[in-house]
Amino acid sequence: MSCLKKIKIIKPDDWHVHLRDEKILKKILRYTEMFYQRAIIMPNLNQPIIDYKKAIFYKHRIINATQLNTKFEPLMICYLTKETCLKELQYGFLRNIFIGAKLYPNQSTTNSNTGISKISEIFHVLELMQKMKMPLLIHGEESNINIDIYDREAKFIETTMIPLRKTFPELKIILEHITTKEAVDYIEENNSSYLAGTITPHHLMLNRNNMFINGIQPNLYCLPILKRKVHQNALRKAISNGSTRFFLGSDSAPHLYKHKINIFGCAGIFNAPSSLLCYITVFEEMKALKHFESFCSKNGPNFYNLPINQKTITLIKKPYKILKKISIGKDFIMPFLSGETLEWSIL
Ligand code: DOR
Ligand code: ZN
Repeated sequence: MSCLKKIKIIKPDDWHVHLRDEKILKKILRYTEMFYQRAIIMPNLNQPIIDYKKAIFYKHRIINATQLNTKFEPLMICYLTKETCLKELQYGFLRNIFIGAKLYPNQSTTNSNTGISKISEIFHVLELMQKMKMPLLIHGEESNINIDIYDREAKFIETTMIPLRKTFPELKIILEHITTKEAVDYIEENNSSYLAGTITPHHLMLNRNNMFINGIQPNLYCLPILKRKVHQNALRKAISNGSTRFFLGSDSAPHLYKHKINIFGCAGIFNAPSSLLCYITVFEEMKALKHFESFCSKNGPNFYNLPINQKTITLIKKPYKILKKISIGKDFIMPFLSGETLEWSIL
């Protein structure tokens, strides 16, 4: 009989992942499929997913790239621009092609140059979304480069979120990949069924110091950028309290190594091979394993009004070595914690 610690939970969903397309998609999808039953697929491709036809084709490409026979379900999102057509959006949502729409502030991150410069440009869209109960996913950072990069999330809450929620009090909003104490407090204080936040494994495990240990670490550059330790601790505390307003969104975001280690290195951390194992590591460190399943498998579907998964998975306390790299033709992608060993693995 084995006396290794085991935890069986409902198979989780990843409420925020970048799968990219073509060669990269084919190589990386298996990691998301292995750990997650469903995932919200970010629409910021080089040609963003701005209409339902693009979403249908992209969803097919994803399903065709599946490897593991898990019946993995991609959940598609519409990328909002100032040209977003109301009819398109309505058709896409009512036909279950889109489960939400994403607001990227213009120039805030990868492929956001067709994002929104002024939120009032899309008030008519938000009004429709509120009426249809269509969730709005937000990259919550002020994109003005004059604002200190470490303050952009807090500033966004103050200047955009607060007024936005006054104008659209019943719009369902997910503040994605939150990184600050201000964001945690904002979500906790509002305790509203219209507001939730996702948290990544890297923002739980690391803080901004980690980017500068033994020289600069481009692999840890992501947006929103890693913050001070007080903010990391606020996120760790938030998940340990068992609030149902926070849930799993890995923000796994692969880039080829040559694009990360570059004079204009890309933002993004590819954590799909280990994200769930990182989360359980943190929950265990925080002595909060009793809230682990809700964070991974219940709070998300409850917020999105989707059924909770039927399947289960078992995690086991046994060393797990994270692969060093994933080759993509002549190039490769370096995963988060490349070559390191975690204490948890999947059975
Ligand atoms: O670090 C990030 N990478 N943050 C984002 O918001 C986008 C993502 C990407 O697409 O690479
Ligand atoms: Zn993202």
